[in-house]
Amino acid sequence: MKKIAIMTTGGDCSGLNTVINRVVLGAKIRGWQTFGIIDGTDGLCSKPINIIEMKPNTVPIENARLAGSFLHNGHACMLNFEKAVQTGKIKEFNKTLRDALAKLKLDALVLVGGNGSFSLAWLNREIYHDLSLVCIPKTIDFDIPLTDCTIGFDTAVEQLTKYCDQILLTARSHHRWFVVQTMGRDCGRLALHAGIAVGADAILVPEIKFDVDELIQHIKSVDRDYGIIMVSEGITLRGHSGRPADMISRKLTAAGITNRTAFPDYIQRAGDTVAGDRILATKMATCALDAIENNETYVMTALRGRECVTVPLSEFYATGDVRADPNIPAIKTANAYIEPDDPLLHVAADLNTYIGTRE
Ligand code: F6P
Repeated sequence: MKKIAIMTTGGDCSGLNTVINRVVLGAKIRGWQTFGIIDGTDGLCSKPINIIEMKPNTVPIENARLAGSFLHNGHACMLNFEKAVQTGKIKEFNKTLRDALAKLKLDALVLVGGNGSFSLAWLNREIYHDLSLVCIPKTIDFDIPLTDCTIGFDTAVEQLTKYCDQILLTARSHHRWFVVQTMGRDCGRLALHAGIAVGADAILVPEIKFDVDELIQHIKSVDRDYGIIMVSEGITLRGHSGRPADMISRKLTAAGITNRTAFPDYIQRAGDTVAGDRILATKMATCALDAIENNETYVMTALRGRECVTVPLSEFYATGDVRADPNIPAIKTANAYIEPDDPLLHVAADLNTYIGTRE
């Protein structure tokens, strides 16, 4: 009988409870024992280690759709990778984590995380030396290379779409444009997908150069006096500071375009998990358990077309666009961004959506 543990790290998103539920059910069918680590690495550093045994009803089927993580994702105030790096305590931190995992005598750890967690796991891989480490990608940002989707992304797109659908009604009543700022850090995929879903008249993302005068001309040319301008939080405007939506809004106002800003914020990480994310979470859980069965380690699950496969973390790190992490500048994380040949960019042009200049 194998003894495995699951933990969720980084920012939460919808779909985490589905993946937890599915891992526990699949492990039970295989005759394995599953533990849940509470609060990610905080729980591993706690004395005693913050861990619970997971039974199929620990996260019941009716709660598996709920956003957030039943296992929690950690307190920002605890010693974590970010603080350990900043304070020069990374070796000590790694040892604490490795000792905790050794104490638990686990055969495998399922790490449900984002590109930061995976990069840190790969760069500090000695922590997981004695067990099988299988990572499952989750993030609303969809900034993880080598997978066709990440858990939580589809629900975030759905949340933004519903939000904008509502905003459009008040926009029409008052002849106003709404500049809606999405999350996504320095990756524009969330804004691009939600913008297409909503039929936004402009989508501004960090990956594509845009010109404010062109944007203004475009909005003035639209056969309507209301609509959505989707702005990714990662865009910048030379000579301006503050929230990106505010910067764009000020420019529109100066050009005589009546507008308001809107910040959907953390509802992008909430909301009942949509079917696509539930299916993805289920596929990824099965893929992770199969990988453990096959004694694979240092791998992540990835969606390729309709199939879920494993790819080595070394490949994830080598393929990603490796840059200083916005949260932990001392660490280089592997990122994925909108590619210039992304078919959605072509689709946006057919919607008459302003997206800037593609090179
Ligand atoms: O990475 C997920 C994400 O929601 C980003 O889109 C966003 O910039 C960030 O996390 C917000 O982080 P925090 O929860 O620390 O405010």
